[in-house]
Amino acid sequence: MAAGRGTRMKSRLAKVLHPLAGRPLLYFPVRAALDFGASRVIVVCSHDGCVPIQQCLDDLFGSGRVVCKVQVEPRGTGDAARVGLEACTTDEVGILCGDTPLVTSEVIRELAAALQHERAILAFQSCCLEQPDGYGRVIRDNRSKVLSICEHRDLRNDEERAIREVNAGIYLGNRQALASALSRIKPANDQGEYYLTDVVAELASSGTVVASLGDPDLLVGINDRAQLVEAETALHLRIARRHALAGVTVRPGARIDDAVQIEADTVVESGTCLRGNSQIGSGNFIDIGCVIVDSRIGNDNVIESHCVIEKSIVGDRTKLGPFAHLRPDSVIEDEAHIGNFVETKKTIVRKGAKANHLSYLGDGDVGEKSNVGAGTIFCNYDGYNKHRTIIGPNVFIGSDSQIVAPVNIGAGAYIATGTTVTQDVPQDALAIGRARQDNKLGYASKLKSKLAAAARKKA
Ligand code: UD1
Ligand code: CA
Repeated sequence: MAAGRGTRMKSRLAKVLHPLAGRPLLYFPVRAALDFGASRVIVVCSHDGCVPIQQCLDDLFGSGRVVCKVQVEPRGTGDAARVGLEACTTDEVGILCGDTPLVTSEVIRELAAALQHERAILAFQSCCLEQPDGYGRVIRDNRSKVLSICEHRDLRNDEERAIREVNAGIYLGNRQALASALSRIKPANDQGEYYLTDVVAELASSGTVVASLGDPDLLVGINDRAQLVEAETALHLRIARRHALAGVTVRPGARIDDAVQIEADTVVESGTCLRGNSQIGSGNFIDIGCVIVDSRIGNDNVIESHCVIEKSIVGDRTKLGPFAHLRPDSVIEDEAHIGNFVETKKTIVRKGAKANHLSYLGDGDVGEKSNVGAGTIFCNYDGYNKHRTIIGPNVFIGSDSQIVAPVNIGAGAYIATGTTVTQDVPQDALAIGRARQDNKLGYASKLKSKLAAAARKKA
């Protein structure tokens, strides 16, 4: 069910498409249903939400497996469930809320077990809260048999308001029994809505309904952005724990997106964000404050603090940072070093090559074991087009050189410090292009007194 208006998000984006841990909110309940083994998932959405939500679901799960159905008016969860059930054909159906990201297939499996064990027609998840305000309460008789769910605003007295067991909004049951109960419920409540929860009393009068008591975390539903952050924090802890148990040290405050893969013996320090579909090998040390997006990192790298790596590939045993910026399509091969304030873009830095300080390497190819000195700039853009800088192996580029692309620098060449390279450099050549220095002996003190006199005259 995802047709609620979501007005409290105060957003142009449909509530269920807001990202959490790198996935749209709706991904999580749909994933839980599919992992449980659902043959098909129907997403009930509003007329406005339908097109973007279906598009997003197709991107995530491929087309056909997860299908949107429109609820014309948001007339309550009972009406939303009816719309969904009309598109179902299996004997058993589950109903989840689109805005509860912490639900897992494990929870649905427990409901299935309870359903079977109690030979029930409906099972739903409940949990106990210190502060149950706002939630539907589970009403049981004195032998603890479930009788009904009563929404908070429809509770009749303090005794009912004191009930701490609440409905988590996750259901599994017999499709035909549910559909027939839904056809009998009336919007006779404070909000004038069709309440899905009213089917509990309908079904409990002739058969068994079980409430399976579980973890209150499951309840975290998202209505506003404060709850979004709260739920995402819980997801990040869950993801960190999953990696920790698989041999990755994840320090507090590191944020790892759901789809990121990390191999054992990697350490992820506080404040680092691993995003998108990044794949991180083993034995890496990723220091504080790094942001790695949609990138592939090999093994045994040292990534010092505050590196930003986007859509790039890093080999093994490299040393990056602190403060290195690998922009999209950078490839840093094994044992290469990219140091402080070095920016790369669409550039391959081959095995063992180094650019340790303050450089811009755009649209380039730096050969094996070449050394790019401090302050070197690949001048790749003439205002209209981008051009490539190709550097062979074992080249030495002296500090503060500008390489005006397009240019080829042959193997083993040597570029003297401060050279502006505008032509190709043959292999093994020395390129030097800078003004000659002239020392005027004893002239410094003369110059200083001349300048001081001029300043006095002016004052
Ligand atoms: C619901 C339950 C309540 C439970 C709580 C748990 C009902 C009547 N109450 O209350 O017992 O404790 O969840 O979080 O079911 N939706 C639609 N169409 C509609 C209305 C809602 O698709 O017409 C969707 C919403 O997008 C949301 C879900 O159903 O994903 C739940 O609706 P919501 O209004 O949040 O229900 P609650 O008042 O929280
Ligand atoms: Ca809710």
